[in-house]
Amino acid sequence: MVAHKILVLNGPNLNLLGFREPEVYGTDTLEDIMKDLRTNAAERGVEIVDFQSNVEGELIDRLHQARGEVAGVVFNPGAFTHYSIALRDAIAGAELPVVETHLSNIHAREEFRHKSVLAAVCVGVVAGFGRHSYVVALDALIRHLGLDGSTGRG
Ligand code: DQA
Repeated sequence: MVAHKILVLNGPNLNLLGFREPEVYGTDTLEDIMKDLRTNAAERGVEIVDFQSNVEGELIDRLHQARGEVAGVVFNPGAFTHYSIALRDAIAGAELPVVETHLSNIHAREEFRHKSVLAAVCVGVVAGFGRHSYVVALDALIRHLGLDGSTGRG
């Protein structure tokens, strides 16, 4: 495992960021968000690898591959958050700290978005801060892993 490598994983429809419901998700593209995140991480000595897919099985395969490759995962699972038991099992099986991350505050939206079937197998959840959710999630993961020189949590 590369201790200072973190996977940022993005699920369905997040490739449309910047164009998709900008009043909910903002006008930054996924590329804009990843570029900033990569710079932010590099300043802290952390390397980001990122992957986006609209296909559930590809996200599962990427989580399997991440095992032994990275120290942790920042994951925006998109709509799969609310119903994918297969992704939940993949997260549990990967034995990696995963931070569930959302641009929007899923609890302030439609009722079907209030439930996450993934949160219980993640180390924590960040939601509602737009593009900053990724920065907060990355920071939390770095601290959790003790990559910032702190003792970490686990
Ligand atoms: C989302 C919230 C989900 O409910 C939705 O299906 C998305 C994006 C977010 O980042 O706010 O695709 O994960």
